[in-house]
Amino acid sequence: MALSRAIFFVVTWITTTLIRGCLGKLDVGIHKHHSLDTWFLVTEKSSYVISAAANGYVVNMHWGKRLTHLDDLNATVTEPPIWSQVISVTEAREEVPAFGGLRYRENILKAELPKGIRELNLQYAGNATISDHSRKLDLDLRDGNRTEFLVTLHYELDIENDIIRRSYTVYNGLDKRVNLSKASSAAWHLPYALGWDEQRELTTLAGEWSQEAMVETTRLAPGVKHTVESTRGMSDHVSHPYFALSQVPNAVNPSTDVYFGALAWTGSWEITVHTDTKGYVRVTGGIHHQDFGWTLEPGESFTTPIFAAGYTDEGLPGARKRMPRHARKYQKRNLATQKDDDVFHPVLYNSWEAVTFDLSFEKQMALADKAAPLGIELFVVDDGWFGIDSPRDNDTLGLGDWDTNPKKFPNGFKPLADHVHELGMKFGLWFEGEMVNPNSDLYREHPEWVFHYDGIPEYLSRTQLVLNFGLKEVRDHIFEKVAGHIEEAGIDYIKWDFNRPMQGVTMHDYDRNPQEAWVLAVEGYYEIIARLKERFPNLWFESCSSGGGRMDLGALERTDQVWTSDNTRPDARLFIQYGASLWIPPRMKYGWVTDSSSDNRFEIPLSFRFHVSFMGGLGLGSNINEFSKEQLEKTTHWITLYKKIRHVIQNGDLDWLVPPSRVSELIAVTESIYNEGEEAVVLAFRHNSPFPATGDLSPIRLRSLDQDATYRVTIWQEDPTEPEDEYEMSGALLMYRGLELPGLNNGMFKSAVVWLQQA
Ligand code: DGJ
Repeated sequence: MALSRAIFFVVTWITTTLIRGCLGKLDVGIHKHHSLDTWFLVTEKSSYVISAAANGYVVNMHWGKRLTHLDDLNATVTEPPIWSQVISVTEAREEVPAFGGLRYRENILKAELPKGIRELNLQYAGNATISDHSRKLDLDLRDGNRTEFLVTLHYELDIENDIIRRSYTVYNGLDKRVNLSKASSAAWHLPYALGWDEQRELTTLAGEWSQEAMVETTRLAPGVKHTVESTRGMSDHVSHPYFALSQVPNAVNPSTDVYFGALAWTGSWEITVHTDTKGYVRVTGGIHHQDFGWTLEPGESFTTPIFAAGYTDEGLPGARKRMPRHARKYQKRNLATQKDDDVFHPVLYNSWEAVTFDLSFEKQMALADKAAPLGIELFVVDDGWFGIDSPRDNDTLGLGDWDTNPKKFPNGFKPLADHVHELGMKFGLWFEGEMVNPNSDLYREHPEWVFHYDGIPEYLSRTQLVLNFGLKEVRDHIFEKVAGHIEEAGIDYIKWDFNRPMQGVTMHDYDRNPQEAWVLAVEGYYEIIARLKERFPNLWFESCSSGGGRMDLGALERTDQVWTSDNTRPDARLFIQYGASLWIPPRMKYGWVTDSSSDNRFEIPLSFRFHVSFMGGLGLGSNINEFSKEQLEKTTHWITLYKKIRHVIQNGDLDWLVPPSRVSELIAVTESIYNEGEEAVVLAFRHNSPFPATGDLSPIRLRSLDQDATYRVTIWQEDPTEPEDEYEMSGALLMYRGLELPGLNNGMFKSAVVWLQQA
């Protein structure tokens, strides 16, 4: 009796353990359900679940808070019933809603098949591969009507940042050619809003040249589709490929659910957000379909760029932490120059804002001599150094002729680069390799290299035309020119610019689909970066495009840093940096201290200019020849202070405690949090106070510190040599009561830098 009871207990224990093991608590990574065609993509704080329905459609089952068990969604997925007047497949949360069948919402893939058929019916093909230590999933879908047309969905998890990277590959297994006319990267499906009257708010980034990344919010309304886009061939200033969606009332609240995403594509792009009357929100995004075309011969394939998106229940501050961390992670993974957090982004000097095209060997030597003692680590020569027959004295000539102008630099760059190196700085040079002025030797020799239509006038912008980087001979020519300079002078750093949108985009190879040129041009840009990085593994590459026209995730993952805007006026810059900080890692986003102020009613102090530029990589673009002794001294001290705290700024998370407001223009406050609150840097600004009665600044409540720790608080305002105040305070008091900054009471263009270190 006792024995049989013991056996019963052992058997029960084994069975229960086995069942628990099967259904076991879900770890991070990708898991397939033991009996269903359902995959759980689990990150630190989120789950994303997809399933093949009975009819083969692959649909999203859940995206949001992390689920705990594999059987949390133990339900077979069926196609919604077809009610009269309701189109079921339109409502299905398909991972790749293609054009075809009864689908009438935004689709992400459209193909023209043989015999003029222009519809697809994608169904799970029974193949799924989980790889890379359960971080990657590939799912094969076949067109149910033509099984040789294959679409493989790709998913990759960034577990610690709660982000999923999506793309897909279309493979033409038919024996005839197929044309793609739309190939967006992903459709994302949000859960229904919590209550009937709950609403969602969309955060996007509007802009234009010199006014990049303006944060805009829009309430979603049923039946309305919002589109943000660039059709210009670059990721552009007019909008940036980023979205965030939050529950109303307020995304800034750090406990709100927020879905956010960014496209890794440096060409024309679109993101759409559509809501129906039930509150079902679909987000799609990828390469802009306006003039997209790609031909697949039998056996060929096309892979879309990555659309990365994530979920957080920590509001916009949580999204702002995750997307820049994600970009930084992939940047580190891709670039040898970026592997090490302790290699900081150098403090740079660039004379463009001070002297524009007025360059010469003597003048740049003199500036280098002045810059080095200030603590500058990288000396960059900008536009204006090239052109022999068409010397680049202004922006109407010389572009494309990448030979050093003999009058300005009679012996090339080697003597200047050597001198800069002897002074202990790195040497950088500007290029705009994809462009040409009609008044240049390159254009005179190769007019066929620019984007154009035969016999149709070319449209100039900034007096220049765009080279067709889809052509190998063009890329090879430019690569050799750039590589030649790097080799000859020992150049450490390239600033690569792009100052006009594309037009006349076509391939002049009439056997090819001319529309492919949009994609080939972007891939050509990526190829040049990769080739330069391969030939010169220590080369740093800056992505610039009239300021911030090329600062999408695709550029962030391939380059060392981006130039955020040509607008260096510090109070304007606060708004630009506020928007850009949503997806750009702090260290990649440069700010220069310059003499710029388009409004001469105010004198903006040097301290305010430095504090704004302290928010990421630091640059100096002022005319240091005209600096007084006192200004030079202060500059040296500000740079010294920046170097002391840049590990916090460059490697920490940038949070905005008070976003700049376009309504009152009163204050803005950021906090960079380093190593889980071990240290922090607060930058506080009072840039314009038209209301004297509002006088005193309320204490600013900090975030993400250790409440039990004591912090040493050091505050600087206008004098970099002498802190305004120094004391110790608990993390709890700093977070729950707040930091007082009496020095910012009343007045205009006042600012402070506060360094908090655990005592
Ligand atoms: C636009 C860039 O944003 C500027 O910094 C400068 O490099 C100019 N182009 C030069 O033409």
